Amino acid sequence: MSTQRRTVLAALVAAGLPLHKAFAADKIVLGFAQVGAESEWRAANTQSVKDSAKEAGIDLKFADAQQKQENQIKAIRAFIAQKVDVIAFSPVVASGWGPVLREAKAAKIPVILSDRSVDEKDDSLWVSFMGSDFTEEGRRAGRWLVEKMKDAKGTVNIVELQGTTGSAPAIERKKGFEEVISKDPKYKIIRSQTGDFTRAKGKEVMEAFLKAEGKKINVLYAHNDDMAIGAIQAIEEAGMKPAKDITIISIDGVKGAFEAMIAGKLNVSVECSPLLGPQLMQAVKDLKAGKTLPKRIVTQEGVFPMEVAAKEFPNRKY
Ligand code: AHR
Repeated sequence: MSTQRRTVLAALVAAGLPLHKAFAADKIVLGFAQVGAESEWRAANTQSVKDSAKEAGIDLKFADAQQKQENQIKAIRAFIAQKVDVIAFSPVVASGWGPVLREAKAAKIPVILSDRSVDEKDDSLWVSFMGSDFTEEGRRAGRWLVEKMKDAKGTVNIVELQGTTGSAPAIERKKGFEEVISKDPKYKIIRSQTGDFTRAKGKEVMEAFLKAEGKKINVLYAHNDDMAIGAIQAIEEAGMKPAKDITIISIDGVKGAFEAMIAGKLNVSVECSPLLGPQLMQAVKDLKAGKTLPKRIVTQEGVFPMEVAAKEFPNRKY
């Protein structure tokens, strides 16, 4: 136990608290406002945050916003009222956070952005942003496609399933992918619509794409694995072979995607790690110890094509 913690405990006991209550009162309190439970990725992220808080002895106040910004704002305001030590959240969309972040700053509660960024100009409103580089993930998806299709003659027709409208991963994954494919005019995005990062929506929108474009579709680019998995079902129901008649690229690298790749139904998944819990708890402890956090902590990730899926599967943690 650190000297600092020993001193706090001694003071609490001296103030008349029984030892077990003094231990509880001394815990760091973290308020975490989660996006929701929209995907396999999100479930793994929630688990990682909960497990790591337990392991680190941090008192976690967890709120599930059910993919609604107003719920996340409400949760953050409740954390401010409860005077938690640190607030962390994964913003469902990128814009509209200025007022609540200013309230947290006025209350002197540090905020950590976990997984997704906000598009506020004043970066003093948060102490650190930890998570993936979504633009780079989009580029990785684009580079994989360009390499695979380098000998293809004629137009390559792409349909795109976007993530939640206005969310950082949807905006940036689109941007990174387009940056790469736009260098060659043979690549054309013929349809692009949101599937809200869910399997059900991914299937529904893919059905509409197939109805409108049918066999013209050469490639599906899905901003996450869940939407790709939903779309695979739609492709099969339309009597086509996923990963053969239509090349499928998605992002996350969840177990469901590996299973689809092993079954020969998904061509590649670009990794996006949800296992942010341990570094978040470390950051919370560092903050409480008076340390300054790096403003940006980028997660290191890879690309997994179907050819390596069976070998990699046993190593997957989410
Ligand atoms: O913000 C990360 C994204 O959100 C993941 O790619 C997606 O699956 C999730 O819902």
